[in-house]
Amino acid sequence: MGQLTTLLLLLLLLLLALCWGRRSNPDGERPSCDRCDRRLACNCSHGGLTRVPSVTGRALTLDLSFNDISEVGGDDLTRHARLGSLSLHGNKLAVIHPSAFDPLWSLEELDLSDNQLTALNHRWFSELGALQELNLLHNPYSCLGSRPVFQRLVRLRRLGVGGPALEELKRRDLSGVTQLEELTVHANNLRRYETGTLADIWPLGRVTLSLHGPFVTNVSLASAVLGDVSYPETQLILEDLHLVRNQSAPTNTRRSSMMSLFRKMTFCNISVSDEALTDFLVAMDGVPLTSLFMEGITLTGEGRWERARRTDYRSFDEVFFRNVVVLNVFHFASFLNLSFLLKYPRKVSIINSQVFVMPCVTSRLLVSLQYLDLSDNLLTDMTLVETLCDGDGTLKGLRVLNLSGNALKSLSTMSRQVAKLSKLTHLDISRNGYSSMPQGCSWPSTLRYLNISRAKLTNITSCLPATLEVLDLSNNDLQGFLLTLPALRELHLSGNRLLRLPPGRLFPNLKTLKIQSNTLNMFDRSDLHSFSRLQDLQAGQNKFVCSCDFVYFLQSAVKGGEGVHLTDGEESYVCDSPFYLQGEPADRVQLSFVVCQRVLFVSVSCGVALFVGLLVCVLLWRLHAFWYLKMTWAWLRAKRGSRRQRRRRRDGPESEALLSYDAFVSYSERDASWVENFLVAELEEPRENDEGSVNHRAPRPLTLCLHKRDFLPGHWIVDNIMCAMERSRHTVFILSENFVQSDWCRYELDFSHFQLFDGSAGGDAAILVLLEPLSKDDIPKRFCKLRKLMSSNTYLEWPQEEERRGEFWRKLRHALRGEEEEDD
Ligand SMILES: *[C@@H]1O[C@H](CO)[C@@H](O)[C@H](O)[C@H]1NC(C)=O
Ligand SMILES: *[C@@H]1O[C@H](CO)[C@@H](O)[C@H](O)[C@H]1NC(C)=O
Ligand SMILES: *[C@@H]1O[C@H](CO)[C@@H](O)[C@H](O)[C@H]1NC(C)=O
Ligand SMILES: *[C@@H]1O[C@H](CO)[C@@H](O)[C@H](O)[C@H]1NC(C)=O
Ligand SMILES: *[C@@H]1O[C@H](CO)[C@@H](O)[C@H](O)[C@H]1NC(C)=O
Ligand SMILES: *[C@@H]1O[C@H](CO)[C@@H](O)[C@H](O)[C@H]1NC(C)=O
Ligand SMILES: *[C@@H]1O[C@H](CO)[C@@H](O)[C@H](O)[C@H]1NC(C)=O
Ligand SMILES: *[C@@H]1O[C@H](CO)[C@@H](O)[C@H](O)[C@H]1NC(C)=O
Repeated sequence: MGQLTTLLLLLLLLLLALCWGRRSNPDGERPSCDRCDRRLACNCSHGGLTRVPSVTGRALTLDLSFNDISEVGGDDLTRHARLGSLSLHGNKLAVIHPSAFDPLWSLEELDLSDNQLTALNHRWFSELGALQELNLLHNPYSCLGSRPVFQRLVRLRRLGVGGPALEELKRRDLSGVTQLEELTVHANNLRRYETGTLADIWPLGRVTLSLHGPFVTNVSLASAVLGDVSYPETQLILEDLHLVRNQSAPTNTRRSSMMSLFRKMTFCNISVSDEALTDFLVAMDGVPLTSLFMEGITLTGEGRWERARRTDYRSFDEVFFRNVVVLNVFHFASFLNLSFLLKYPRKVSIINSQVFVMPCVTSRLLVSLQYLDLSDNLLTDMTLVETLCDGDGTLKGLRVLNLSGNALKSLSTMSRQVAKLSKLTHLDISRNGYSSMPQGCSWPSTLRYLNISRAKLTNITSCLPATLEVLDLSNNDLQGFLLTLPALRELHLSGNRLLRLPPGRLFPNLKTLKIQSNTLNMFDRSDLHSFSRLQDLQAGQNKFVCSCDFVYFLQSAVKGGEGVHLTDGEESYVCDSPFYLQGEPADRVQLSFVVCQRVLFVSVSCGVALFVGLLVCVLLWRLHAFWYLKMTWAWLRAKRGSRRQRRRRRDGPESEALLSYDAFVSYSERDASWVENFLVAELEEPRENDEGSVNHRAPRPLTLCLHKRDFLPGHWIVDNIMCAMERSRHTVFILSENFVQSDWCRYELDFSHFQLFDGSAGGDAAILVLLEPLSKDDIPKRFCKLRKLMSSNTYLEWPQEEERRGEFWRKLRHALRGEEEEDD
């Protein structure tokens, strides 16, 4: 119950917090968009937005295209003083506040195309002094406004205006626009045009006009528009013409001055009848037109253009047709009667136009031809023979032949057909069906460039001419490349199945090698250095094995250390194996020393370990660690031993029997003579003068334990010592310089000390005998035990004078006998 209340309370709080958050957000329901990249380009397109979202004020590019925004409010863009590019393309924009764009004083590009703007307001652009590109196409306004809209746009260079509803262009509409690189006017339904409206724009780089309606309904209007933009340097693009009238219009037959100045004309998306075309040809008679580009043409006629055969097109240089559809292809007349037109052009391109043959007779008309592009058509080996007149050298001026994207299959046919083209330098037969190469071919000796990419070749032979400078065999199925090409400068082998770089000695002049997307595992310095002139290499997107050698080599190559430039960017060199490096860019891989220098690493680390071990040993030795270790061990055993002993002592008096010595003598080997000559003699064999005394009975001889004499051979010395001390009532330490130097003595001392402090053994188990004057300070610090003993226990000093020695022995005996003597 209580839990439920708490839960409800929490929920309530949460709701409250949410409401508060809502209220405290000043932007209310304004959506936000944070799809900005590092260069501060915010791409909010396709976001389903219904109003301008809030975006960071630092944004430089804002793409709001393809949303449902219908209105730009007065303060929607207030924070965007830095914005350089704004796109509202493809929205439902119908209303823009007059001062909505005022804050955007850095704006250089504005795209308002494809919206619902029914009128343009001159206030919109009044503050956009930096604007260079403005696109207003595809909006339903019928005129450009009552007052000039572009007056303030002094830096405008690219402008697009018009749409399906544009009906009127007036002189003042474009005032302020003085020079443009690009002008696009969509005016398919233009009704009224004030002559001179576009005439003030100069220089004008390129003009694109859609004047479908005027060309159909009021040609003089169309002429007026064309006349206003015709300059020799201006490139004209006419779009969306639909000239299918089958009778010639009288207005067109006279030579028109409207286009007399154009040198380059482009037509896009047009349909023309024979009549319209001949009208055009007649109209352009004598105009120094050099280039004619036509893209997306539908020919409705049958190619009967002879009415225009008396025209003069001697400056005609280049014809470019792409995407031509001939409706009556089977009725189409030959070009035989077109020699007036065909004898001039040097460049002819007929691309993607379903050409399956160019009859030999037509080829013979193309007497000036140097460049022929028939790519993306339907030529086969058989029709190629017809087109090139069975290799009789008809197109003898031809330098470039492009047959890319056809249905050719036989390389030997190909080579035979071009063998006599004595000027041919470029042959592009890419994207055809070649699957094998004959052993020998005959090419013109001038051939420098050959492109057989995107075929199905599995092997190469000496069919490839030795004169080649550029060879493209990319996207085939090659597994190897072994052919000497002494003149080759560029070799393209990307997209094959090569396992390694071809040997460089075959290409003494190679400067560029592209071998991306093969199955190379690695390549190294010697591979590269076999190419004596290589400058640029592209070998990315292979399945690299990132071994240490390869990674080091690549990183040095990226830095330019190998004399070869990796032009495809270092990021395309990605490791495929080992597994833990898969997907890593090879130039950023950090291979550890351990992986790369295993032998060196092992030997160095062993060396270091050995050295450290030695160092530690020396250090331990210096610090007497071994001694301490031994001590600790002994101490542990002593602890156990003494516990056992104590137990035994508690258990009964028989323990006393275990004490078989009166004293264990601890002394240094160097003091042995003293011990043997004086101590043993005095204590174990009592002197006569004592025996002689009447009152005193001779002192009982004491039993001493001497390691030399009483230790059991064959036992560990520590055990012996412990055992000896345990079995002795006292321990006598013969202190001297020598003692201090002897490890065993020290050990014995320490051990006795444990016993001492273990308590029950008796207060003065240790007796110190100072053999020579030894001050406490002479004893090294680490013998703290000894120092402590010396300060706490009184010690006996061996007197140098004879007469005081009796006293000494008495005292010693007394100490050794302890209570026993007191009892006497
Ligand atoms: C924005 O993203 C869309 C796809 O969502 C893309 O088509 C468009 O090119 C991008 N615009 C820019 C300026 O990168
Ligand atoms: C054709 O256009 C011109 C120039 O704008 C105009 O004077 C003339 O009235 C138009 N003719 C027709 C039939 O619309
Ligand atoms: C081509 O022009 C016609 C008018 O002749 C027009 O309706 C059509 O939309 C245009 N097509 C393109 C792709 O521009
Ligand atoms: C023009 O075309 C129409 C139909 O499109 C046809 O009826 C007429 O006969 C043609 N006229 C000429 C002279 O070809
Ligand atoms: C070429 O023109 C002549 C007359 O000018 C004509 O007789 C002949 O039929 C035409 N040839 C073709 C193929 O149209
Ligand atoms: C041949 O045409 C193809 C496709 O149109 C083009 O990519 C290629 O660059 C052309 N080759 C030459 C040598 O111009
Ligand atoms: C060879 O032809 C292909 C396909 O037409 C083209 O992409 C490539 O750029 C051409 N190669 C060279 C070196 O021009
Ligand atoms: C490639 O061609 C050479 C020479 O014609 C031939 O010796 C070799 O067997 C061929 N290799 C393959 C894989 O077909």
